Amino acid sequence: MTISFKDRVAIVTGAGGGLGRAYALELAKRGAKVVVNDLGGARDGTGHSDAALKVVEEIKAAGGEAMSDGGSVTEYDHMVELVAKTREKWGGVHVLINNAGVLRDKSFAKMDPADFRFVVDVHLIGSANVTKAVWETMREQNYGRILMTASSTGLFGNFGQANYGAAKLGLAGLTKTLYLEGAKNNIKVNTIAPVAGTRMTEDLFPPEAFQAFSPDKVVPAALYLVSEDAPSNAIVGAGAGVFQAAYVTLTQGKLLTGDALSPEGVAASWAEITDRTGEITPQSGAEQSMAIFKKLQGG
Ligand code: NAI
Repeated sequence: MTISFKDRVAIVTGAGGGLGRAYALELAKRGAKVVVNDLGGARDGTGHSDAALKVVEEIKAAGGEAMSDGGSVTEYDHMVELVAKTREKWGGVHVLINNAGVLRDKSFAKMDPADFRFVVDVHLIGSANVTKAVWETMREQNYGRILMTASSTGLFGNFGQANYGAAKLGLAGLTKTLYLEGAKNNIKVNTIAPVAGTRMTEDLFPPEAFQAFSPDKVVPAALYLVSEDAPSNAIVGAGAGVFQAAYVTLTQGKLLTGDALSPEGVAASWAEITDRTGEITPQSGAEQSMAIFKKLQGG
């Protein structure tokens, strides 16, 4: 079955280059009207350019429909205006891919608190801003598909990226609550953790790998995750054509009572507490509490 975005309106942030551009081009090719947002700054978020406009020109040259926006995702009021403008022009917003991002890498010991805040502001607050700006529209439409962009750093860690990792796992957390809140209005929310050769990773990948990890190899996962039949609450890894799923799981755990209900008791039971046999994947926070109740009842 072909996945079509005909009559859908999509906003892709940070779509002036790299992964965002690849998403925008393919969405447009498959019939979506696309808002290409990008501030057009450098990798560390400084400066501006007409990167978004160039991608819009590419889409139009290929026969698609698009409009550009050079605003920053950190400006909530601007994002509200952008959504209003989009609705006025195209009648709705069905897809949002929160993809804009910056890097200010340094070991935590050397990191300036302002650089921690800036990176969290662009990735986490920026994604929350645009999502909040489209949320009411999606609720009214009873249709919405939202993709958050996390990263292996957020899920698993990476030396020198404390600011980025904190923001990225925050986005997976945002997905986990929004998927619950959006469910009754057919809003599906997912998280992608891409691996791609872009300017963000150009000093990490050797030239051969850079090619093997081209952004177009991530596109199939991103587009599936914002399609009509998308799952919700998935965390998907994608790079070089390999697709993976990541989970936040919970072990069966152990009930400690009496003298064992002590730091020493936790130490003594550490192997059992962390034993992964029979671990579960809670679909909401309440399921952790339910698992605790079950344990109290001897389950
Ligand atoms: P990129 O640097 O080519 O793309 C990021 C885009 O976001 C840039 O075009 C930039 O101008 C734009 N941007 C930055 N600040 C903005 C703001 N305040 N408002 C609007 N646009 C803004 O890098 P890439 O690799 O395409 O990254 C896309 C997303 O994927 C980012 O969120 C990144 O953190 C994430 N990611 C990428 C990985 C990779 O291997 N390339 C790995 C894991 C995550």
